[in-house]
Amino acid sequence: MKFYLISLSVLLFISCEHEPIMPIVSEQEACDLSYVDFTNSILPLLRNSCATTNCHDEITHEEGLRLTSYNGIMDDDEFVVAGSYKKSELYESITEDPNDDDFMPPVNSGIAPLTSAQIQMIKDWIMQGALETDCGCDTTSYTFSSDVFPIFENNCIACHSGNNPNTNLLLSNYSEIYQSVINGNTISRIKSNLTDSVMPQSGKMDDCKIKIIEKWVENGAQDD
Ligand code: HEC
Repeated sequence: MKFYLISLSVLLFISCEHEPIMPIVSEQEACDLSYVDFTNSILPLLRNSCATTNCHDEITHEEGLRLTSYNGIMDDDEFVVAGSYKKSELYESITEDPNDDDFMPPVNSGIAPLTSAQIQMIKDWIMQGALETDCGCDTTSYTFSSDVFPIFENNCIACHSGNNPNTNLLLSNYSEIYQSVINGNTISRIKSNLTDSVMPQSGKMDDCKIKIIEKWVENGAQDD
């Protein structure tokens, strides 16, 4: 009997193709539950990896996609299907075989492919309802792993990682970031008021993120 039950549940598990259904929650609840935050995580990632010049920005909008705002991202019904990463073209394009023409960001575009952590973040956001949350940014907490690294991950590594980073500057792990904030000009470039020199290229980050990086540096830029 026990064996029968186990085999039955294994069979049910294998034959079940449905994606897990997440409860629908309000934006406030999503923040309380620490869901992936659209404004502070998804939007910067898509702006820096997809909405670059000649791609899905406001001017070029390849394939009609303007990935610079929530409305632009949700404009095409099939691009993001809330609650189903499998039906979302966004998820498909970033997990496609890199030899396929539909793979994004295109190979040789100078933009790094998304990391598995970034892909997981997009998947989670879709499954959590693809909400337009803005859970704010908190300057009182600034450890490297939970606050500083995600800022670089969402805003910089699209162009500063991999085999052919822009200006040979790598910002994809602690020692590279440490080098660049202590000996390089990362701090002055993220604080620059000139559109030609500010980093990321898509535009200056909000004050809160700049403050977190500065406070972390003032406190010794620890690998915490
Ligand atoms: C869309 C691509 C892109 C993104 C995203 C990007 N950069 Fe850059 N970055 C460049 C390019 C191209 C250059 C070289 C041109 C220039 O100096 O402006 C550059 C140059 C720099 C330089 C100057 C390096 C030197 O040798 O003087 C720094 C520092 C820098 N980036 C830091 C950052 C940081 C920090 C972030 C994230 C907050 C970031 N970049 C995001 C493309 C990017």
